[in-house]
Amino acid sequence: MVDIQIATFLLLGVVGVAAQQVGTYIPENHPLLATQSCTASGGCTTSSSKIVLDANRRWIHSTLGTTSCLTANGWDPTLCPDGITCANYCALDGVSYSSTYGITTSGSALRLQFVTGTNIGSRVFLMADDTHYRTFQLLNQELAFDVDVSKLPCGLNGALYFVAMDADGGKSKYPGNRAGAKYGTGYCDSQCPRDVQFINGQANVQGWNATSATTGTGSYGSCCTELDIWEANSNAAALTPHTCTNNAQTRCSGSNCTSNTGFCDADGCDFNSFRLGNTTFLGAGMSVDTTKTFTVVTQFITSDNTSTGNLTEIRRFYVQNGNVIPNSVVNVTGIGAVNSITDPFCSQQKKAFIETNYFAQHGGLAQLGQALRTGMVLAFSISDDPANHMLWLDSNFPPSANPAVPGVARGMCSITSGNPADVGILNPSPYVSFLNIKFGSIGTTFRPA
Ligand SMILES: *[C@@H]1O[C@H](CO)[C@@H](O)[C@H](O)[C@H]1NC(C)=O
Ligand SMILES: *[C@@H]1O[C@H](CO)[C@@H](O)[C@H](O)[C@H]1NC(C)=O
Ligand SMILES: *[C@@H]1O[C@H](CO)[C@@H](O)[C@H](O)[C@H]1NC(C)=O
Ligand SMILES: *[C@@H]1O[C@H](CO)[C@@H](O)[C@H](O)[C@H]1NC(C)=O
Ligand SMILES: *[C@@H]1O[C@H](CO)[C@@H](O)[C@H](O)[C@H]1NC(C)=O
Ligand SMILES: *[C@@H]1O[C@H](CO)[C@@H](O)[C@H](O)[C@H]1NC(C)=O
Repeated sequence: MVDIQIATFLLLGVVGVAAQQVGTYIPENHPLLATQSCTASGGCTTSSSKIVLDANRRWIHSTLGTTSCLTANGWDPTLCPDGITCANYCALDGVSYSSTYGITTSGSALRLQFVTGTNIGSRVFLMADDTHYRTFQLLNQELAFDVDVSKLPCGLNGALYFVAMDADGGKSKYPGNRAGAKYGTGYCDSQCPRDVQFINGQANVQGWNATSATTGTGSYGSCCTELDIWEANSNAAALTPHTCTNNAQTRCSGSNCTSNTGFCDADGCDFNSFRLGNTTFLGAGMSVDTTKTFTVVTQFITSDNTSTGNLTEIRRFYVQNGNVIPNSVVNVTGIGAVNSITDPFCSQQKKAFIETNYFAQHGGLAQLGQALRTGMVLAFSISDDPANHMLWLDSNFPPSANPAVPGVARGMCSITSGNPADVGILNPSPYVSFLNIKFGSIGTTFRPA
């Protein structure tokens, strides 16, 4: 690691301060995104929110110059002999949202392009101000947004979801983290992802297994409760709450990172209309026509109709061409004919599909409700799935299983679809748009039929 840039930048006096630092080569200008808050008496008011790119997608370089801290062989051994030293010597820099990542906003619309130059996929968070994520207290509230999935084929996932990240990205809790929410730090979800480069203010150096010059997995994971409002493409959609033993962001190692039996319920309790017996509800030309934009409404019902009650039900509606479309009704032997998520629904579904109810084992809706009460961060992403080709969302899963077995068929995509190797030949180039995000008391964000 002999870097002529170090000498140059020392001379220029461009020297960082200390720990999971902030780089100064590219200014960080958060794109504006208008959102609305609604009340029964006051109607909806627009506020000018911003978005920020996840830290994991950023250039990490020496505080003394342009040497990258991550290489195809993993973390640079001089800058990053261990996680704490690495956080001291390495900085996260600003990004060019549109030109590098294909992330653009206009008024109340956010568009995430899948392929932009050499970049594949992205994840952004909604902010309250330039150094904090916005946290949504969801109990006894509803969320509405419009989505355009028309250019999202099999194998891709345009997601809108909540995660129990720290509002400041962990900056105040962990002195090693000087970058904070301004640079998109502190990601966590119910898969306890081990590809997160910095966790709890330290680089994930130990045990790092590089998969590319910017990606890999370390021995630590970053866990927290996750509520997948919308994971979808033009052929399938799922609404999936997940629970964790600790709702808030928690670093895991060893068996605590293991899916379902560790800190978090990685499987979740999903509502996917196709999987639950209505194969013609959502798709091109179907009841919810994915060739056109539509509105997705999600309501968080509590035991006493107040924001202090227990979460008892998650309801879903769609609105398209001015018509309110109730969620599809379950048609599977052993599961009640319902169209919302409750603890009994989860328990019946898990039995009918012969799966373990890890959702209940980690506390079920009551536990999730605690996270909704505290407040969760809103994330948007577009991604492919190298490991499972998104077949768990839009095809048969496991792909080798008999699709006649209840729970196996989840969407109309072929079991050979979704291979990231096919991404380069996709045309037209895939993107997802989320528009008109509205949040407020029940019944205020859309007009019921
Ligand atoms: C590193 O990751 C690759 C790809 O995911 C995997 O095949 C390999 O087994 C991993 N190696 C170690 C030592 O974990
Ligand atoms: C898993 O978490 C529990 C509870 O926090 C802790 O007592 C235990 O040591 C952890 N196990 C590992 C392998 O880190
Ligand atoms: C699927 O949902 C649509 C819209 O609610 C409904 O008209 C149709 O009958 C449902 N089909 C089945 C098989 O349940
Ligand atoms: C909550 O409100 C609904 C109507 O919106 C009503 O049917 C229900 O009885 C109420 N529940 C409680 C516990 O007050
Ligand atoms: C919420 O559930 C807990 C545990 O079941 C119970 O003690 C509490 O009274 C409930 N709160 C409300 C407002 O229903
Ligand atoms: C439920 O699905 C079966 C086929 O699996 C179908 O024959 C039946 O009409 C469906 N019921 C409803 C209410 O749509």
